[in-house]
Amino acid sequence: MNHFKEAAKTWDQGPTINRNKVFAESIEKHLQRGNLSLLDFGCGTGLLSQFLESKISNLVGIDPTLEMLDQFKSKFTHLNSVRSFALNIETESLPKDIGRFDVVVSAMAFHHLDQPLKALGILKGLLNPEGQIFVIDLDQEDGSFHPDNKGMGVKHFGFSADEQRMWSSELGFKSFTREIIHHISKNEREYGVALSLYQI
Ligand SMILES: C[S@@+](CC[C@H](N)C(=O)[O-])C[C@H]1O[C@@H](n2cnc3c(N)ncnc32)[C@H](O)[C@@H]1O
Repeated sequence: MNHFKEAAKTWDQGPTINRNKVFAESIEKHLQRGNLSLLDFGCGTGLLSQFLESKISNLVGIDPTLEMLDQFKSKFTHLNSVRSFALNIETESLPKDIGRFDVVVSAMAFHHLDQPLKALGILKGLLNPEGQIFVIDLDQEDGSFHPDNKGMGVKHFGFSADEQRMWSSELGFKSFTREIIHHISKNEREYGVALSLYQI
């Protein structure tokens, strides 16, 4: 996770801001109400939660990178109900009192997981009835998106629609939808970013 320790210093500069604004707008189209209990998984500095803030009454962020979480915390000091946990979902247990969530969001974090299906199953277990999980990540790419896959902790070159649909059926979600919501221009080409919505 050394890469993100360093990356945290400049994360809230440049394209990450606009990108998360677009992500939040795409998520909002699928939200039926506000006043939500929301978990931001792989929250980084909290940009996605920040853009969704008007819909949130209870916010929890999870991320193993302390330098990211420090910024997450400083963004939401004005909220009554906000907590953050520095943990790696693949190697550590979630706190027993973490609570239940109407909505789980995750932006650009799943491609850093060894076992994304397992993590999705853990997150599913935290949902309230009719809960929703929004996974935003790269559409399947050829490994050229990140300049140093190993050094940046990249475990997957994005995901295909088929793979993400398969996760949904394996975990027994009631519905699954997926759409390309954004393109990132890099290396003289466009990389798609997909929003997958899993509902129970
Ligand atoms: C590309 S950044 C995205 C941050 C933020 N969601 C955003 O879009 O601005 C990926 C984040 O995933 C976190 N991450 C990596 N492995 C993780 C894991 N096993 N569990 C939870 N978060 C993880 C990193 O620390 C990093 O903050």
